[in-house]
Amino acid sequence: MIAEHPVVSGDISLAELRSMPLPRGVLVCPPDSFDVVDVKNPFMVGQQGRVNTRLAREQWLEVTRAFERCGSDVRELPAVAGCEDMVFCANPAFSGLNGIGRRVCVLSHMRYPSRQPEVAVHAAWYRANGFRLVELPGDSLFEGSGDALWHPGRRLIWGGWGHRTAEDVYDFIAGIFDAPVVPLELKTELFYHLDTCFCPLDEETVLVYPPALTREGMENVCRIFPRVIEADRREAEELMACNAAAFPGGLVVIQRGSVKVNRSLRELGFQVIEVDTSEFMKSGGSVFCMKMYLF
Ligand code: ARG
Repeated sequence: MIAEHPVVSGDISLAELRSMPLPRGVLVCPPDSFDVVDVKNPFMVGQQGRVNTRLAREQWLEVTRAFERCGSDVRELPAVAGCEDMVFCANPAFSGLNGIGRRVCVLSHMRYPSRQPEVAVHAAWYRANGFRLVELPGDSLFEGSGDALWHPGRRLIWGGWGHRTAEDVYDFIAGIFDAPVVPLELKTELFYHLDTCFCPLDEETVLVYPPALTREGMENVCRIFPRVIEADRREAEELMACNAAAFPGGLVVIQRGSVKVNRSLRELGFQVIEVDTSEFMKSGGSVFCMKMYLF
């Protein structure tokens, strides 16, 4: 049995987890100030000054239209000048429903100073939109839903840690949301956020790149998800295939050209919407991190 709100490893099963509604919307931010100005992750090496701003804008519109086609209520946060990574809405906070169904938002402690100003902008949006805002105690790092991911339809949080998030934040997160957390250590430099290598698609299915996780982590993933789709190295590294976004009804928005992953998704009955995020991958992000799920 699951104790009150522990950080767990192992002994839980889908059947004993409480249910949780699926997200109804997404928060996005246009790429008005998007650029690669420094190197915060290995994808950014050699990409400084190489963003095609016009193409980025077109690609962002294609991605947000795809979210709309998935039936998602798309909410827009205006970009702030000088915040070059603000298009990656997943990172400055982690939001969801607590145990009594209240909307809660935990604010991030971003690792890089250039991203820290994004947090106050998100905080103001969440406050104005009916969320209870929560500050993390202490100064451990936490990068929101880049690392903390809800299990679709269940009150369970998958908690990535190692590069941008410290493992010790998850006791607090579990308590705030009244949901157990399964921590997943990120082993490699390249897969620096959990959402770069792990994508829950529905209650029973996950898309994952196993070499980015530890053996214990993969065991926990396979114990809880009855269906596991494994991305291969090329699609995970070059196309960020695991940074896809799933929507109710089996819809998945994913980088175009992830041929093997997309074939597996279609075989399992998912409807795949392919988009091009090449400009954003220069900064180490694709579909998943270009939005925050809203419950
Ligand atoms: N350049 C951004 C950074 O390194 C990319 C963030 C991508 N977000 C994500 N959730 N993977 O901070």
